[in-house]
Amino acid sequence: LEKLYINGGVPLRGEVQISGAKNAVLKIMAAALLGQGPSLLSNVPQIRDVKTMCSVLRSLGAQVESGHGTVKIDPGTGLMNTAPHDLVKGMRASIQVLGPLLGRLGEVKVALPGGCAIGDRPIDMHLEGLKAMGAEIRDEHGYVLARATKLRGARIHLDYPSVGATENLMMAASLAEGETVLLNPAKEPEIIESQRFLNKMGAQIRGAGTNRIVIKGVRQLKGADYRVGPDRIEAGTFMVAAALTGGEILINGAVEEHLGAVIHKLQQAGVQLQFMEGNRVLVRSKEKLQPIQLRTMPYPGFPTDMQPQFMVLSTVAAGVSIITEAVYNNRFKHVNDLRRMGADIYVEGRTAVIKGTQFLSGACVTCPDLRAGAALVLAGLAANGQTVVEDIAHIDRGYENLESKLAQLGADIVRQQSGEQAC
Ligand code: UD1
Repeated sequence: LEKLYINGGVPLRGEVQISGAKNAVLKIMAAALLGQGPSLLSNVPQIRDVKTMCSVLRSLGAQVESGHGTVKIDPGTGLMNTAPHDLVKGMRASIQVLGPLLGRLGEVKVALPGGCAIGDRPIDMHLEGLKAMGAEIRDEHGYVLARATKLRGARIHLDYPSVGATENLMMAASLAEGETVLLNPAKEPEIIESQRFLNKMGAQIRGAGTNRIVIKGVRQLKGADYRVGPDRIEAGTFMVAAALTGGEILINGAVEEHLGAVIHKLQQAGVQLQFMEGNRVLVRSKEKLQPIQLRTMPYPGFPTDMQPQFMVLSTVAAGVSIITEAVYNNRFKHVNDLRRMGADIYVEGRTAVIKGTQFLSGACVTCPDLRAGAALVLAGLAANGQTVVEDIAHIDRGYENLESKLAQLGADIVRQQSGEQAC
């Protein structure tokens, strides 16, 4: 029932620290199930999806202790093979327990996932890959059941470089007999993080970040300590916040190499970026923003997780922008509320044509999903007057203290229990 109340128009200034990467930590937590001993993760963001993953792992019989920025996961000896629907439905990343549980227990039953409502999100490639490794797979009553006395290494060609499928197959293949080769795998930095963690556990994986990942199966894995790298999408979101408000922000925890496509589009929009040692970047925006053209793609293309934020940027640019969402088929859910804030957006299929306006005007808006929710907050920061953002639980899934970090940069933003007639 909490909402964010934002009075827009304040240029953001100061310094912000980026938290650990949501999309890395959730998969690493699932991978910890493969270990014969405890794993200790640090730089873990305090977000709702991490809490959900802790609950999923506990429900599977693992011992999970979460501290301030740390999570200790001990799979113990009594792991169970069923991930129930009431937990899995809240978060798509829960499907990542499929690979490790199958690898360790030889049998697993996982509820079909829910998560962000951003279009069709099948898991056929995860399942095809496991089948190629010898698993028998059925799905019934909303659950996927997979069984394999012993997984065998296989040569698996992915039709599309799916992040989730690549990670699930890397985890399953780590304990398979023989060598698995993944062709056309995802190349996201999170895949490299998964490889690093699994190799610290004793796995033999090479090639993450390239078109070919080779996994030599080993008999068993141990627990490992791991520090999660910074969240490139959170960093990108703050870059857009600086640009939209005509501010100047020093961002700590922005890895230049991970943000290539985002940097390129910001520069085209006229935003100044100065990278410094230690993964720091100074983002400055003084001039009127210029229109952009972009198409979301698998990494290193432009990330679908930054598309809603860039749509907000283009609503106030000096000209017409074109944005094509090519990864998901229903990821324009922020458009209606942006229109209510005065944006001029025309959507045809997966393409949006955005005619920049002089300014947005504050309104009462509702988060449809995680990144669209963050985009609506950005719109509120740039708008005239007050914006009230509802359903912010979506934002809490993936951003650690978004409003307090923005407030530290000078934004007029508060979180409050909803007043009755706030909107
Ligand atoms: C996606 C993003 C990832 C982002 C994450 C969190 C891409 C390619 N992936 O990863 O960068 O961090 O969301 O928001 O941008 N698909 C199938 N069958 C499958 C698996 C996927 O058809 O078995 C399709 C999906 O419907 C989608 C595309 O492949 O259209 C990308 O899916 P995938 O990379 O698996 O999604 P996530 O792992 O959620």
